[in-house]
Amino acid sequence: MSGVHSFVRNQWYVAAYGREVGRELFDRTICGESILFWRTEAGEVTAMADRCVHRRFPLSESPSRLVGDTVVCGYHGFTYGADGACVAVPGQTRIPRTARLTSYPVVERDSFVWVWIGEKDQADETLVPRAPWLDSPDYTTVCGMEPLAARYMLLVDNLLDLSHEAYLHAGSIGTPEVAQTPITTEVDDEAGVVYVSRHMDDAECPSFYARSTGIEGRIVRWQDIEYRPPCLYLLHSRVAPVGSYPAEDGSDPEGFHVEVVYAITPETGTSTHDFWAVARDFARDDEEVSDFLRESNRTVVLQDVEALDALEKVIATEPEGYQELSINIDTGGLAARRILTRMAQAGQETPAAKASA
Ligand code: FES
Ligand SMILES: [Fe+2]
Repeated sequence: MSGVHSFVRNQWYVAAYGREVGRELFDRTICGESILFWRTEAGEVTAMADRCVHRRFPLSESPSRLVGDTVVCGYHGFTYGADGACVAVPGQTRIPRTARLTSYPVVERDSFVWVWIGEKDQADETLVPRAPWLDSPDYTTVCGMEPLAARYMLLVDNLLDLSHEAYLHAGSIGTPEVAQTPITTEVDDEAGVVYVSRHMDDAECPSFYARSTGIEGRIVRWQDIEYRPPCLYLLHSRVAPVGSYPAEDGSDPEGFHVEVVYAITPETGTSTHDFWAVARDFARDDEEVSDFLRESNRTVVLQDVEALDALEKVIATEPEGYQELSINIDTGGLAARRILTRMAQAGQETPAAKASA
C-alpha cells in the first residue's frame, strides 16, 4: 500500500445512524464531500452540500437554521428547500437559476442512513447492502461510531485479518487459538464479496463471550467474515460449548450468535468513520449484558483505532513505494484491496469514457 488510495465512487456509504439525524442540522464529511443532513417535517432524511452557494458559509453552522422544510443560511439568508433548490434570496425576488445545492440520494435501512457518493443517476436502492439484524426484533444491538485518523484501507486490512485479536485484543476477545487456526478465503469476484472463515473447534472462551453467554469451559468458535466493499463488513460469529454444532436443518439451539457489523466510511483521504454494531440473539433483555458488550466492544474498537492511527503516522513519514511483507493471514485483505482498486478505477470512468470503451 502506498500513497492515499482514491475514493471508490458510485457507491452507497453509511453516513450516520438514523437516530443521529433529526430536526437539527447535522453535517458529516464523506469521501471528502461536506454533506448536510436533516429530516423533513414528514420524517424523511434529506442530504445536500453543506456549503451555501452564495459565499460558501457552512449551512450546518450556527446561526443557520431549519424553518419548516427549508434551510436558512445563517450568513445572509439564502433559503433552500429539501431538494437543495434555492427558494429565497435577500433583497430581490429573482432567484438566480444556478442557485442550487448539490443534493445526494439517501436511503434509510437497517438503522443506518446510506448516502450515494457519485453520479446521481446511477444511484440504485437495490444495491444497498443489508445488515438486517440491526433493527430485527429477534436481536438486541449495541452500537457506536469512533473517528479514526487513518485511511479506510487500514481498517479494511485490520478487519479482514482477525488473527490480530490474539495480540492487540488479548484478554478480551483474543485467545491464542485465533492466531493459530488457519483461515479459508473465498472471493466472489463477480459480486465483489470477500469471505474469510476461521473455525475453531476447541478454543478458550474469551471474556467477551464468557461473560455475555455464561458458557463455562471451552468453546466451538466460528468467525465467518463477509466483506461487501467498499463500506459494509459483517462478522457472523457463533460460539457454543465444545462439541455442539448446528443441526442439519440449520437449527442451532446450543449456539450463541453474534452479528458484528462495521461500516467503513472514508471521511478524507486519511480519516475514516468507524461505525460498529454488535447484535446478539441471546440474553436479549439483559441490560447488564448490553452494557458489558457495548463497553467491551468499544474498548476493542479503540485499541484498533490507536494502532491504525499510529500506522497512518508511519505512512505519512515513509517514502512512496515502501514494501510490505504479506503472509497467509493477509489473503482476505489483499483480495479486498484488489476489488477496491478495481472499483475505484470503475468509479472514475466518466459515462462518456465507458460508452466508448
Ligand atoms: S453565504 Fe449563505 S447567504 Fe451568504
Ligand atoms: Fe481489532
